[in-house]
Amino acid sequence: MAEREKRYRAAITATEHFLPERVVTNADLEKLVDTSDEWIRTRTGISERRFLAEDEPTSKMAIAVAEGLLQRRSLTGDDIDLIIVATITPDMIFPATACLVQNAIGASRAWAYDLSAACSGFVFAVATGAQFIESGAHRRVMVIGADKMSTVLDFEDRATCVLFGDGAGGVILERSEDGESGLIDFELYSDGSNVECLNIKGGGSQHPPSHETVDRGLHYIRQEGSVVFKFAVVKMAEVSVSLIERNGFTGADLKLFVPHQANRRIIDAAAQRMGLAPEKVMINIDRCANTTAATIPIALSEAVNEGRLQAGDLLLMTGVGGGLTWGSVLFRWGN
Ligand code: ACO
Repeated sequence: MAEREKRYRAAITATEHFLPERVVTNADLEKLVDTSDEWIRTRTGISERRFLAEDEPTSKMAIAVAEGLLQRRSLTGDDIDLIIVATITPDMIFPATACLVQNAIGASRAWAYDLSAACSGFVFAVATGAQFIESGAHRRVMVIGADKMSTVLDFEDRATCVLFGDGAGGVILERSEDGESGLIDFELYSDGSNVECLNIKGGGSQHPPSHETVDRGLHYIRQEGSVVFKFAVVKMAEVSVSLIERNGFTGADLKLFVPHQANRRIIDAAAQRMGLAPEKVMINIDRCANTTAATIPIALSEAVNEGRLQAGDLLLMTGVGGGLTWGSVLFRWGN
């Protein structure tokens, strides 16, 4: 592939995540729906998830991440040029949750908007934010993935409600100091022909909120699990392999693969296609479940905290989700 034109490389200079305190185990869900710890663990790899308090919104988690990012990098809100929040569970339909973050951290110079790409949201947002660094338009872009999935779960739909959790994670993107580390390449896709297999239909302009939409449960996430599963198994592996190969690498060159955490079996299939040893694959689905736009930045932040990335390492992050959407970003890690 021809090298993309860019003046600078966009490097990740800080990572942070937030997980709510309340732990909800599979045993807790056994009390709500006809399920079992054994079924959930063997079919999905999930043991527990975190739920945010009922009276706290998604922005609470996104703001905690934003504050942590500033602290880690010794910056103030005024140092940030742009804030992108990837979410499908914003506080309100508008204004954007990113504007609430912007206000909370005093990022008075920054513009801010939300990006909706479900479980691919963080990967889409990182690739988007990086363009403003690469072009020279901005010095610092904050990218956050945050979702409070507990607000859209139907606890009468056992095949879906056991899969999700709440959380947030994020990064700061800046000009790479050495010109070598940073975003190498990305591959992103959407296929709007498959809207029916994964969606929340209520509350938008097609089905504005009404007693009827609530009675029909249209405000809940719905999915055809096996259709999404088959799609995710194919696409997560396909886009990951394509991106590393078109940049002249193989799985052996990767230091860390941070995949979207939807189902352990989807992750294992992708890792196998890339020939990755288990220690190269970041997994936290057992503790966090699927936090939608937040899975990848939470897992990345945990990996960084564990010292799993050193300068020069190759990092691949891949998301697949509603839209349908899917994509990968490939980074060389900096100092
Ligand atoms: N507990 C017990 N039994 C269950 C449960 C449960 N929680 N859920 C489903 N079952 C039953 C089903 O009713 C079915 O029973 P039956 O055979 O008597 O009809 C049986 O288990 C098998 O169901 P399947 O759907 O075939 O199970 P499968 O192995 O496919 O696993 C799952 C289901 C986990 C949902 C899987 O399909 C999956 O992970 N899909 C992908 C989900 C996903 O990634 N969604 C993305 C959303 S992210 C976003 O973009 C917002």
